[in-house]
Amino acid sequence: MATMSISRLLSTVLPLLAPVALAQDDQGSLLDVEQPLINLRPQRSSYRDLINLDGLWKFALIPEAERNATESWSEPLSTDLECPVPASYNDIFVNQSIHDHVGWVRYQRDVLVPRGWSPDDRFLLRAESATHRGRIYVNDRPVADHQGGYTPFEADITDLVAAGEHFRLTIAVNNELTYETLPPGEISVDEYTGERKQTYFHDFYNYAGLARSVWIYSVPQQHIEDITLVTDVDGDTGIVHYDVEVANGSGTRVNVSLVDEDGQMVAECTGSSGELRVESARLWQPGAAYLYQFQATVMDASDDVVDSYTLATGIRTISVNGTKFLINGRPFYFTGFGKHEDTPIRGKGLDESYMVHDFQLLNWIGANSFRTSHYPYSEDVMNFADRQGMVVIDETTAVGLNLGIGQGPAGPETFRPDAINNVTQTAHKQAIRELFRRDKNHASVVMWSIANEPAAQEDGARPYFEPLAELARELDSTRPITYANQGDANFTADKIADFFDVTMLNRYYGWYEQTGDLAAAEIALEESLQGWEQTYPRPIIMSEYGVDTIAGLHAIDPVPFSEEFQTEYLEMYHRVFDRTKAMAGEHVWNFADFQTSIGVRRVDGNKKGIFTRERRPKSAAQALKSRWTARNAFGWSE
Ligand SMILES: *[C@@H]1O[C@H](CO)[C@@H](O)[C@H](O)[C@H]1NC(C)=O
Ligand SMILES: *[C@@H]1O[C@H](CO)[C@@H](O)[C@H](O)[C@H]1NC(C)=O
Ligand SMILES: *[C@@H]1O[C@H](CO)[C@@H](O)[C@H](O)[C@H]1NC(C)=O
Ligand SMILES: *[C@@H]1O[C@H](CO)[C@@H](O)[C@H](O)[C@H]1NC(C)=O
Ligand SMILES: *[C@@H]1O[C@H](CO)[C@@H](O)[C@H](O)[C@H]1NC(C)=O
Ligand SMILES: *[C@@H]1O[C@H](CO)[C@@H](O)[C@H](O)[C@H]1NC(C)=O
Ligand SMILES: *[C@@H]1O[C@H](CO)[C@@H](O)[C@H](O)[C@H]1NC(C)=O
Repeated sequence: MATMSISRLLSTVLPLLAPVALAQDDQGSLLDVEQPLINLRPQRSSYRDLINLDGLWKFALIPEAERNATESWSEPLSTDLECPVPASYNDIFVNQSIHDHVGWVRYQRDVLVPRGWSPDDRFLLRAESATHRGRIYVNDRPVADHQGGYTPFEADITDLVAAGEHFRLTIAVNNELTYETLPPGEISVDEYTGERKQTYFHDFYNYAGLARSVWIYSVPQQHIEDITLVTDVDGDTGIVHYDVEVANGSGTRVNVSLVDEDGQMVAECTGSSGELRVESARLWQPGAAYLYQFQATVMDASDDVVDSYTLATGIRTISVNGTKFLINGRPFYFTGFGKHEDTPIRGKGLDESYMVHDFQLLNWIGANSFRTSHYPYSEDVMNFADRQGMVVIDETTAVGLNLGIGQGPAGPETFRPDAINNVTQTAHKQAIRELFRRDKNHASVVMWSIANEPAAQEDGARPYFEPLAELARELDSTRPITYANQGDANFTADKIADFFDVTMLNRYYGWYEQTGDLAAAEIALEESLQGWEQTYPRPIIMSEYGVDTIAGLHAIDPVPFSEEFQTEYLEMYHRVFDRTKAMAGEHVWNFADFQTSIGVRRVDGNKKGIFTRERRPKSAAQALKSRWTARNAFGWSE
């Protein structure tokens, strides 16, 4: 990783384009409404207000026959069904047609705009996610339409509502996956029932709905809409390069300051971009977070303060040198998991109890990191990772770009005009832009993963991924980029690895191959790691390795699905990792058991968790705990 260049980063300050017009269904293209820039996550201050709209919303399926009658979707909803927000709707109701619905649903509630809100301010709605497409209506007016299920979107509703008045808020949500969406999928019509069926190529359940919060908020006309912070270290001095973007900013001036955890101001500066220097800076370290508060203040032409925004920042550096992944100049060895946002009943709905408990378990077991497999996680999770000193590999929702997975050269081609094509690539670019804009300021995010297990062995993968890797570098020159490689794209077959900085491998020798034969699997694993190490001399992270394990199933001989087998499988992998010089980390697949689509290979979901879906440990948890806590986050690979 080249040393970062703030000028390079800031010269390309992540313009968030309007959602690309993805004509993916009968509604035709996305609304011809100019999309506002997505602002920083809203917060309250003396200049801004913020109201959470979570709770029970009226809920109904939109019948397929009403698919094209979009103007009727915003009509007052008469229904007995109420659905919690945030939550996926699928497992909430005792009703299979809701659980298996393919298409649109709508959520509706009444909103009161606070009487005290100033008519001089702007009022916005923000949905943190709508899986996978969301259309927002204020009364009967469509105000936003967004494709991409795991990133926020907004609507400026200033001209449609008034302080002290109510309005009807409807959000229609579509769960369909096609070759024009990420993740991709196919929709077919059942030959017997005529029902529409969704299939997809990723191994987790297609939960849908409003799984994260919805907000209404106010900002001044002249307000801070974006901040980019890039940190560096010079001896004992911490440096925060900053860039503050002010909407309608003509005539405004910006002051910024940095406040430490004791509330002391340690640096200040004027101007909308520049750098703050902190003598004897406390660094953000894995397992030992230290956060400064970056405070930006905007003054108007008469020097009155009109807006302020506070953003937590950790001062730290990231680089790759040879086979080492360095945080603050010291080799970092990743221990942890690929995770999922997945809990009983809520599906992918954010639940702070599970969030905090999951971090407690990560800490208990000695995990210093996780990957947001296979989509951007809630911003609450990202902020919590910053505060907890948890290292994150941040992944886009490009999963399932592999139609012949596990079939080798005999499988169907993935990159072709009638499958993963140029429209998918356009959606993929937008997914990268939105993720990078949302998460660029997190200290915890040390690397971007732009895809999981694509068919990287195909010739078509190269022209597909080259512009994506270029875009990622253009948007952020400060973090390494990677993708999670699947075994069909072995070190000779892979066509895209040279676009990336770090090798991430998902491998299942002893499970999907050499099933149950750990002696053979050990040889295959070692050959693969040596091949990658010699072909691409750079850090290798095993980003997935694991086996389905039924909690409570025990066996004298370690047979697949038993708890004993899971432990022996992991121990075998760890022996090989410890013999491999380029190893820079190990992420077990998966942190916990999780739900998947129906299929003959899955009984109530994927059971590769080290914890059950209810977060009880399987016995391998103890083995991992003793391995991972025997070393601290640093120094292992030195
Ligand atoms: C919706 O409109 C499209 C094109 O206008 C048409 O092909 C489709 O059959 C319509 N769908 C329904 C359910 O009416
Ligand atoms: C299931 O939900 C659908 C759609 O809301 C509804 O038409 C149907 O009556 C429900 N079935 C039962 C058994 O409640
Ligand atoms: C700038 O202010 C004008 C009104 O003064 C408003 O119409 C416009 O939407 C504002 N732009 C932003 C980005 O807030
Ligand atoms: C902004 O910074 C300048 C220069 O330090 C200072 O004179 C001014 O009072 C500051 N304004 C506010 C509102 O803090
Ligand atoms: C990379 O590591 C080598 C060997 O340890 C060292 O000599 C070199 O200075 C390092 N380069 C950077 C840019 O840190
Ligand atoms: C993308 O477009 C180019 C040029 O139009 C074409 O040659 C290529 O086959 C397309 N790729 C895919 C995967 O559809
Ligand atoms: C890599 O994959 C190719 C294509 O399937 C295969 O021919 C080759 O034998 C594989 N190489 C190794 C080392 O497994």
